[in-house]
Amino acid sequence: MAKIRKEDSALGATIDEIDLREPLQTKEVEFIKQSLAENEVIFFRDQEISPTQHKAFALNFGELQSHPVYPTVKGFPEITILENDEDNPSKIEEWHTDMTFRKIPPLGSILLGKIIPKEGGDTLFASLSAAFEGLPNDMKNSLKDMQAVHSFEYGFKESLEEPYGREKLKQALIDNPPVEHPVIRTHPVTGKRLIYVNSLFTSKINTLNDSESRELLSFLCEHIRKEEYQCRFRWKTNSIAFWDNRSVIHKPDNTYWPQLRRMERITIDDTESPY
Ligand code: SIN
Repeated sequence: MAKIRKEDSALGATIDEIDLREPLQTKEVEFIKQSLAENEVIFFRDQEISPTQHKAFALNFGELQSHPVYPTVKGFPEITILENDEDNPSKIEEWHTDMTFRKIPPLGSILLGKIIPKEGGDTLFASLSAAFEGLPNDMKNSLKDMQAVHSFEYGFKESLEEPYGREKLKQALIDNPPVEHPVIRTHPVTGKRLIYVNSLFTSKINTLNDSESRELLSFLCEHIRKEEYQCRFRWKTNSIAFWDNRSVIHKPDNTYWPQLRRMERITIDDTESPY
């Protein structure tokens, strides 16, 4: 049976003694679900899985999404390719929670390391529940009824400014109008409260004027990425990171450029949260 080793940080754990090439037993799926909710991001090592096995593993946790913008593995529209090299540096520079521009953002993502640079290219994760606990009590109270706007247009503003950017992303813009989420969310499994904003997609806090909103968002976005709430995952080929998209922000450390780094990611629908 699989075993868990917790990281010495605010979040994260590694699961050993499991073979993700094989179909999982129900008790293994339950163990992974619980480990994910409790640790917010879980890691696996030495999992040489094919796209079919990657997909089969992800289907244990829900329906799979396809990303409106990124390329995908041939024959697998649900497996997004994140590939960067000398000619194509990573554009993911901001800490973020995936796709909060959707009314129901994903439950999580399973990222597989296919080609890992010799140096750099780690992924950083930060715990939104630990960040909530780190707020002063009066602030926890004042934030609790606030709603924030999350926007695809805001998150992809640089791509939209590129030549023909708006034409290329026309359909994605139509399909993803701005949405609102509470600034403080409760995790559907652990019941922990967490700060649910991110600097990539959160454009405004509703009840505040523009300058108050900018000031509060900038404070919260700085606060949630403090080092004390973080863990750092050092990739090897065939490592996997599976994060709970409801309780973490993350970002790649892009210092590997111009080396090649190729990752394959599956993102899973959230059917647990009470929307
Ligand atoms: C992502 O932001 O989903 C990708 C993270 C990474 O490439 O490390």
